[in-house]
Amino acid sequence: MSTFPPQFLDELRLRLPLADFLGRRVRLVKSGIHTKALCPFHQEKSPSFVLYNDHYHCFGCGAHGDIINFTMQAERLSFPDAVEKLAGEAGLPVPTTSPQEREAAAAQARGFDALLAALEFFRAQLRGTALQYLRDRGLDDETIERFMLGYSPADSQALITHLRGQGFAEDLLIQFGLAKKSERDGKLFSFFRDRVMFPVTDRHGRTVAFGARILPGHGDGPKYINSGDHPLFTKGKLLYNLPAARQAALDGQPIIVTEGYLDVISCAAAGLPGAVAPLGTAMTEIQLQLLWRLLPAHGGRHVVPLICFDGDSAGRTAASRALDRLLPHLSPEQSARFAFLPEGQDPDSLIRTGGLAGFQDILHQAIGPAEWLWQRATAQQNFSSPEERAALRRRLRQEVAEIRDGDTRQQYENDLNARFEKAFPSASMQPERSGWQKNFGAKNSGPLVRPSAAPSQSHADLRKQKLLLMTLITHPHLLDDAQEFLAHLEIADPILAALQQSLAATPTREREHLWEELRATGQAETLDTLWHDAQLRLTKFAFDPARDEDAAAFVVEMKGMA
Ligand code: UTP
Ligand code: MN
Repeated sequence: MSTFPPQFLDELRLRLPLADFLGRRVRLVKSGIHTKALCPFHQEKSPSFVLYNDHYHCFGCGAHGDIINFTMQAERLSFPDAVEKLAGEAGLPVPTTSPQEREAAAAQARGFDALLAALEFFRAQLRGTALQYLRDRGLDDETIERFMLGYSPADSQALITHLRGQGFAEDLLIQFGLAKKSERDGKLFSFFRDRVMFPVTDRHGRTVAFGARILPGHGDGPKYINSGDHPLFTKGKLLYNLPAARQAALDGQPIIVTEGYLDVISCAAAGLPGAVAPLGTAMTEIQLQLLWRLLPAHGGRHVVPLICFDGDSAGRTAASRALDRLLPHLSPEQSARFAFLPEGQDPDSLIRTGGLAGFQDILHQAIGPAEWLWQRATAQQNFSSPEERAALRRRLRQEVAEIRDGDTRQQYENDLNARFEKAFPSASMQPERSGWQKNFGAKNSGPLVRPSAAPSQSHADLRKQKLLLMTLITHPHLLDDAQEFLAHLEIADPILAALQQSLAATPTREREHLWEELRATGQAETLDTLWHDAQLRLTKFAFDPARDEDAAAFVVEMKGMA
């Protein structure tokens, strides 16, 4: 165990990038996405020593570690000697360690041991009701093993007695979140009681914490309780299932960020091993960075995490916060996508009801940060006045300004400007009457969609659909060949769709009086709004019965696009 301050060791690793360091000692070769070498620790003919961002791993002999481990292994040095040697190379003075620091380091080592002993204890206790509960939730034995699930007995002394018997001191159990001292009588009691245990491991797969779920009908405590932070565990700096996600990323599997322990487990059981979850808190920037670093920096491949939170308002809020966290870090190497689950669903429930395919459908519809920025800013709002549009413009500008990488920021500016121009063409005079934006803005699913809605129709589509309906109304004979096409055309906007229905249903004999007929069937307001839409009127043939040729060509074009 280290007797050096962690900050010093981090600084050391930072000053001596592993790739450069190893590059001077072994011959690195590019192989697909990996940087590999012939393993210096065992004899081999083809390279199985793989270099990652911050560590190496040999798939032949299992040699594994960071720059310090490499030095220890390659030069047969003790840990302190390896650190001293590297510090010399990096030009860093070696900090002297106090006895207190040495003691803290030794305590950490004992902490790992105690957490491991607790893990084994909980696993051995998993039987009866708790085991049945997991099986009833669809988990098979292999999955239960893989995630090392366990059960903490209701007896508040069981774990403590067990660990004491193995020689662990009481203070240690308190320090690492396994036990608490009663304020009433000073007696030690187990922090986790009568709960299903989900061990949380660090990047290296060592158990550092637990999430613990209540069993249905077993009291009214919180659904989950989680280990508090301690010297080996900081909630916001770790993700559930991170070690498996690393392998998944290497295997080209998607990395999916879900909300809960059981979502991760369901994903894995269904064949998506790359699911992770934050640990009972909102996702942090550090957690995003952990995901981007799952793949080696020089491999040419990047992890694009799919953020897939629950289909409820909390989940959407979480996705919105995740977008805010993401923005400053966006770059060609660092991005994410956002998938929105149907109302009331989480990945676990969706996989159980709709199977893997149902969930993958949702993942395939994930949107990028630019689209999510736009949808978020335009959801549930009107932009009928210049001030409202200016406010939107300003908001988007401020959000994009958060992006630190210059090239990326520039691209986002362009992208969002284009979206803005498309939605509110500057050439047009936006009528401020109680017209389109009021009728079609908030409720419709044109450009202003809510994230949970089906894939949106663009503003351009909506405009074309308006023009099509107007064109058919002013040139009713075109309906002869268009009525069937019209009936099947998918119009997302409910008000426009109602006009479409009326128009498609108008009997041929009424065409002479089409305008009156439509007004009589409840379309008067819609017709007036369309008729006075200054922007639409720029397209002359849609309003002028004399411009027949253009009108006919447009209808043919629309048919061709359907
Ligand atoms: P959920 O309530 O969605 O739980 O909370 P879940 O993981 O889907 O579990 P089931 O399917 O209802 O049994 C999502 C995550 O939020 C944290 C946990 O990390 C949980 O996995 N959480 C939730 C808590 O920390 N405490 C709570 O009381 C509830
Ligand atoms: Mn859930």
